[in-house]
Amino acid sequence: MSEKKHFVTLVGSLRKGSFNAAVAHTLPELAPEGVTISHLGSVGDFPHYNADVQAEGFPAPVLSMAEEIAKADGVIIVTPEYNYSVPGVLKNALDWLSRVSPAPFAGKPVLIQSASPGNIGGARAQYHLRQILVFFDARVMNKPEAMIGQVTDKVKDGVLTDEATRTFLSKQLQAFTDFSA
Ligand SMILES: Cc1cc2nc3c(=O)[nH]c(=O)nc-3n(C[C@H](O)[C@H](O)[C@H](O)COP(=O)(O)O)c2cc1C
Repeated sequence: MSEKKHFVTLVGSLRKGSFNAAVAHTLPELAPEGVTISHLGSVGDFPHYNADVQAEGFPAPVLSMAEEIAKADGVIIVTPEYNYSVPGVLKNALDWLSRVSPAPFAGKPVLIQSASPGNIGGARAQYHLRQILVFFDARVMNKPEAMIGQVTDKVKDGVLTDEATRTFLSKQLQAFTDFSA
């Protein structure tokens, strides 16, 4: 039976040639039948979090992203690891989103993916991200985990081409579709 679901991706890199963005942009073609995936705006469109700015009104990119997240059946965060943790730009975006009411991530199914040229594939950032999402009351899927190591050999021209990784991510997306039911 096909399931009609819509997921959104949030990418933790601003880099034009980002491997993580390449993974995110490949996900729609790996999704189960009936599942659509679109991409949220860039976390680089958010200003640095400042409570004084918030007091004057949330920036428009924050509010529109919060609305898209609230409407989605699930959020897929695809991020690099920076110095064993979450890139500052992603943390900044999450800090902004955490102040929006009603909380867009509350009860929201979340899938985490990471990619790195290194062997560990961003695993350490994933566990910091999970900790951050505790306060959000997000429903983060535990397994299977996708930590894509040696990603430089797996992406060509902005597309994830490695067959084994594509097959694995297809299975993970099916699991996330079931999880988000
Ligand atoms: C400031 C900085 C810190 C980094 N720290 C890590 C790290 O802790 N672990 C890791 O696997 N790669 C680390 N890297 C390498 C990134 O994984 C690599 O640059 C990757 O391509 C970034 O993701 P992107 O291609 O999606 O932009 C770091 C890169 C930068 C610029």
